[in-house]
Amino acid sequence: MGPIIKNIRSLRHLRDYKNKIETYIKDLMLKARNDGHEEVVDLSEHILLAGGKRIRPMLLILCYEMLGGKNLDEILPLATAYEIIHTATLIHDDINDNAKIRRGVKTIHELEGQAKAQITGDWLFVVGFGLGGQYEKDIVDIMSETCSKMASAELKQIEHIHDTSTTIDDYYSIIEGKTAGPFASGCKAVAILTGQDKKTQDALFNFGMQLGLAFQLVDDLLDLIGDDRLGKPRGLDILEGKMTLPLLLGIQNLKNKDKDKLLDLISKYHLQDLEEILHLLKISGSIDYCRNLVNEHLSSAIRQINFINDNPSKKMVLELAHYVRSRYD
Ligand code: IPE
Ligand code: IPE
Ligand code: MG
Ligand code: MG
Repeated sequence: MGPIIKNIRSLRHLRDYKNKIETYIKDLMLKARNDGHEEVVDLSEHILLAGGKRIRPMLLILCYEMLGGKNLDEILPLATAYEIIHTATLIHDDINDNAKIRRGVKTIHELEGQAKAQITGDWLFVVGFGLGGQYEKDIVDIMSETCSKMASAELKQIEHIHDTSTTIDDYYSIIEGKTAGPFASGCKAVAILTGQDKKTQDALFNFGMQLGLAFQLVDDLLDLIGDDRLGKPRGLDILEGKMTLPLLLGIQNLKNKDKDKLLDLISKYHLQDLEEILHLLKISGSIDYCRNLVNEHLSSAIRQINFINDNPSKKMVLELAHYVRSRYD
């Protein structure tokens, strides 16, 4: 059932939700297939059903229940919208990054060419918005704003490819836009849906933001220290020239020969150099620093929802937050 479930104690409940999300996605695809869209459905299902962690829709459903929501039918389309839009961004991101593998299978552009991958990503964006568009205007507005920020963040990321002078602020603005923003807006949308006051809406937004920042930092660390469970090869960020925080801090902290060596290894990266790069990053202190930052973002996320009364769903929301950190344990 995938690592997310293995690492979380409240197994049965989450497995049920994951199954419901996947059934919902399969039904949507079947309907589109029956409406005559076989080819784009085949292309989409290749990635959509290849086994993502489904962390975003699970988070939305758990937050919905934590805030007193009782009707799964009310939240499922919104939760699925976030998962489908996420998948659309992955398909586009993989074109930009020239990635060969996603969710353990070949990327669409690798199998079928860039044009078909682009169209598939576009179509999934529309399907995601079709689901999200059923909700009240405030929710549709934040979904659309989030997608705009994702586009700008991806463009900013392209601007900083191979740019070893990228600042920590640049890095944070990129990961806020591309990853943490969607977590934040999803959590806020759930607060709106369940009729919470402004304070709770803001708290859920900040909770999602901090959780999402931790999530992307972990993804960036796993690119260096992860294993096969990732469903994508290690070291890709270096190959792609992506200036992640562990690399930026390593460059910033190292001096003289070590710094020159790191810059040299990064600029003409080969997989066999990964261990040496990792060694340099470790002695620079950047890996430990990033691990601490993950903990800080997670603690900050949890503080945002301290004022919400304890209930079984809140316990699972907190477990999901702990799961983010446990991915590299
Ligand atoms: C990958 O997201 C892209 C990032 C924001 C790091 P996930 O790690 O959630 O990927 P899937 O959905 O489980 O494949
Ligand atoms: C996240 O960034 C991608 C999006 C949010 C679109 P990454 O480029 O780090 O994601 P991976 O590592 O390819 O999964
Ligand atoms: Mg990528
Ligand atoms: Mg990554």
